[in-house]
Amino acid sequence: MTPIAGQVKKLVIPAAGFGTRFLPATKAQPKEMLPIVDTPTIQFAVEEAVKSGIEDILIITGKDKRAIEDYFDRSPELEALLARKGQDSLLRVVQEVSNLANVHYVRQGEPLGLGHAILCAKYHVGNEPFAVILADDVVKSEVPCLSQLGEVYRRTGASVLAVQRVPHQETRRYGIIDPESAGERLYRVKDMVEKPAPELAPSDLGVIGRYILTPDIFEILENTQPGVGGEIQLTDALRLLNRRRSIHALEFEGRRYDTGDKLGYLQATVDYALAREDLGAGFEAYLVEVLERRAAQNQLPDQNQRAAKGRTGP
Ligand code: G1P
Repeated sequence: MTPIAGQVKKLVIPAAGFGTRFLPATKAQPKEMLPIVDTPTIQFAVEEAVKSGIEDILIITGKDKRAIEDYFDRSPELEALLARKGQDSLLRVVQEVSNLANVHYVRQGEPLGLGHAILCAKYHVGNEPFAVILADDVVKSEVPCLSQLGEVYRRTGASVLAVQRVPHQETRRYGIIDPESAGERLYRVKDMVEKPAPELAPSDLGVIGRYILTPDIFEILENTQPGVGGEIQLTDALRLLNRRRSIHALEFEGRRYDTGDKLGYLQATVDYALAREDLGAGFEAYLVEVLERRAAQNQLPDQNQRAAKGRTGP
């Protein structure tokens, strides 16, 4: 698959949210800096963009998010220390992070919602199509999810959303599309609704945090009124955009982890740790040991019961 650079050159990562789902850990650090093994979740977003051919990255930050800027910046003192100690491989890791991409920042003064965060990117993006990654959604896939969307954009020239089937009782957690089949795993969006109750959801296809958007979304966002949760919703602006020109949705190939959710975070941690060359084997052995220990403990009451019955039985 060819990179999407040339057509889509910029990525926007909204990162101004409070991360309330992960309190208290996020009380004094950005949720985007929580690591999967040893890599902050926001780095997965940047790496996915770079693998997809995008190196101009705008992060929408807010109050208390300075750690993100420090992370992607050079760190001369740390680099000097590692060089002095001859820790060359760590030095390379640290330098690679700051050389990954051209990262820019804009602050969202008030947390007024995802739509408002995207609107803060207007002047940096200009009149070009652009990509959006919500860093909470980490996608493990052979072909980067953004490249998969880029392929659809190249063919259609229309905005593209990543979707996946979500459990019917969980539609309230997602933007849900009303789909019309337009090819293999591809849909034309007839309409969409932000976080509907299951009985009102037009399908089980939920939007996950990957979008390629045409720049006319900005003008619509400027006029979008607060929606669900009193926030300016990207989904509401997309509904209006959809009336002007079609939007597509791709059921992407890959596994998505909602790392903003505690269980999703743990699942990502386990899968990424198991896939690591330096940790996988040791970690797997530990997991097997834990599961065996738990299975043995669960059997114990049974055995005790049987033993007890044996004593009191006829
Ligand atoms: C946002 C979007 C929603 C989308 C979801 C994917 O919601 O508003 O449409 O389905 O991301 O993760 P949030 O999870 O930020 O509440």
